[in-house]
Amino acid sequence: MGSLKLENIRKSFGKVEVLKGIDLEVEDGEFVIFVGPSGCGKSTLLRVIAGLEDATEGQVLIDGVEVSAVPPAKRGIAMVFQSYALYPHLNVRDNMGLGLKQAGSPRAEIRQRVDTASKMLGLDDYLTRRPAELSGGQRQRVAIGRAIVRNPKLFLFDEPLSNLDAALRVNTRLEIAKLHRDLKATMIYVTHDQVEAMTLADRIVILNQGRVEQIGSPMELYNHPGNLFVAGFIGSPRMNFIEAGRLGESGKGTIGIRPEHITIDPSSGEWQGKVLHVEHLGADTILYLESEKAGLLTVRLFGEHKFAPDDILHATPRREHMFRFDEAGKART
Ligand SMILES: Nc1ncnc2c1ncn2[C@@H]1O[C@H](COP(=O)(O)OP(=O)(O)OP(=O)(O)O)[C@@H](O)[C@H]1O
Ligand SMILES: [Mg+2]
Repeated sequence: MGSLKLENIRKSFGKVEVLKGIDLEVEDGEFVIFVGPSGCGKSTLLRVIAGLEDATEGQVLIDGVEVSAVPPAKRGIAMVFQSYALYPHLNVRDNMGLGLKQAGSPRAEIRQRVDTASKMLGLDDYLTRRPAELSGGQRQRVAIGRAIVRNPKLFLFDEPLSNLDAALRVNTRLEIAKLHRDLKATMIYVTHDQVEAMTLADRIVILNQGRVEQIGSPMELYNHPGNLFVAGFIGSPRMNFIEAGRLGESGKGTIGIRPEHITIDPSSGEWQGKVLHVEHLGADTILYLESEKAGLLTVRLFGEHKFAPDDILHATPRREHMFRFDEAGKART
């Protein structure tokens, strides 16, 4: 079991309130991802859950039990950080088993748990190496292994892949997805990476300045952002925002249209514009178009397109994919 409930969590450092009343329920076995701009309080919230920081106000409940009096080591939580901080003088096996050893677990049990974790993570061939003899990705897997052997109810990951290169991130992301399927443990995971958030999460929690903006499955947030902040945060490249008045809509507010929901035609369309810049990504082409009617537009086209700066093109939004937000930035329903 590993359910989590946060009730009105507030955290201040001195006079600065960093978490401003967070409520969240995470089901046993769920994979929940925290995203949000730098400094919005993601790591602080993880540390409060782990017991490494005390909340100024509010309650943390694990499996229905309020844990303010429970020290971090007794909460059944394992945390994996961006900096994996392995002991340089210990080999992989001893790094992975150290926590259990300190907790006084029998040697045979430590051995067996390390073996299981190392098999899961593909570390069997490296058990006698020291951290300095491993690649960054292998070290990160050891850090994850160290968490697995403790058999926690709840895993907390704070940007565990951000030190890895692109290819390794993809591999390790797939490993974490598999790990979640195999262990069926509850996981809470902080990332800046859109793709990690969209692909790993059962639900994403979008934080902004110490508050929850919206909670939902990746596709709920993509298809039904509740406000401008969420609309601009989920999706890459970012959604285009156009002042409603510019498009002759009645009522003040903002129109949103994602780059992938605009079609381009050289001869006709709703918004004529001039190409400012083209990015050829191979699988996609990103156009930056300056249009009189709708302003600067980002357009994402599938495949390769031989457009060049100063080309005159016509952009047409796919109406069924347009979003409308009121003056306060709230989605109109
Ligand atoms: N020990 C501390 N003392 C004072 N202020 C702190 C402390 N820890 C964090 N803060 C402040 O709290 C705010 C939230 O920090 P936090 O590390 O939770 O952000 P974050 O969302 O994890 O950001 P990032 O994406 O950059 O990791 C920041 O403004 C930070 O400066
Ligand atoms: Mg952080």
